[in-house]
Amino acid sequence: MNPQALWTHVDHYLDGCLLPRDSALEAAQRASDAAGLPAIQVAPNQGALLQLLALAVRAQRVLEIGTLGGYSTIWLARALPAGGRLLSLELDPGHADVARANLAAAGVADRVEVRVGAALELLPALEDEPPFDFVFVDADKAASADYLEWALRLTRPGSLIVVDNVVREGDILDELSDDAAVRGVRRLLERVGGEPRLVATALQTVGCKGHDGLLVALVTARAQPSVEPD
Ligand code: SAH
Ligand code: DHB
Ligand code: MG
Repeated sequence: MNPQALWTHVDHYLDGCLLPRDSALEAAQRASDAAGLPAIQVAPNQGALLQLLALAVRAQRVLEIGTLGGYSTIWLARALPAGGRLLSLELDPGHADVARANLAAAGVADRVEVRVGAALELLPALEDEPPFDFVFVDADKAASADYLEWALRLTRPGSLIVVDNVVREGDILDELSDDAAVRGVRRLLERVGGEPRLVATALQTVGCKGHDGLLVALVTARAQPSVEPD
């Protein structure tokens, strides 16, 4: 079996063992496919990881950058307690329309807002709002480092920041790459590594979406935990 086929089989096996069948998520995916959206949503087990992480930090306010058809949005929205809110930013009005319909059909429209525009133009307006407890960055990869900067401004100690697609089949190893996405992700990783307010790691992933990776970062008050009292 070639590696991709193997990874996909394993994903399906794990999903079959661990994830309940979910007609709302399946319907959302069918509607996104039918609308011609690219099939680049997170894998089911990645969506479940996002949900689990949002639950673990008891996120009440979630920010997503990059909605597409709202697949990851539904996973995250389901982690919200009563009164929780999710704001998802999407450049493409057509994607946003599909997402809104999917979110309504999944029964989470009451707690989710999809806002249309270039994320870097929408983010400054959020500075006057209470901080977000969870940020999922999954839009244009060239701007990943800029989104991280905004995520730092819009969160508080204890918030979690997750960034998708930080490995890109290993393309990120090319320090001379002229691919804007690769350069953006490398800039992100350097920035995170040098940021004392973040405890962060990145993991490679293989599965039905090929070989890629996720960055997970916890915002801390200031310097990272140390055994030395200060
Ligand atoms: N999070 C989704 C997938 C997002 S795909 C999921 O897992 O289900 C990336 C999305 O980011 C696309 O819909 C694309 O239109 C959007 N996007 C690209 N550039 C953007 C920008 N500058 N601002 C906001 N969204 C952007
Ligand atoms: C692409 C974007 C994504 O967010 C993703 O998870 C996979 C692929 C893309 O633009 O090709
Ligand atoms: Mg992605």
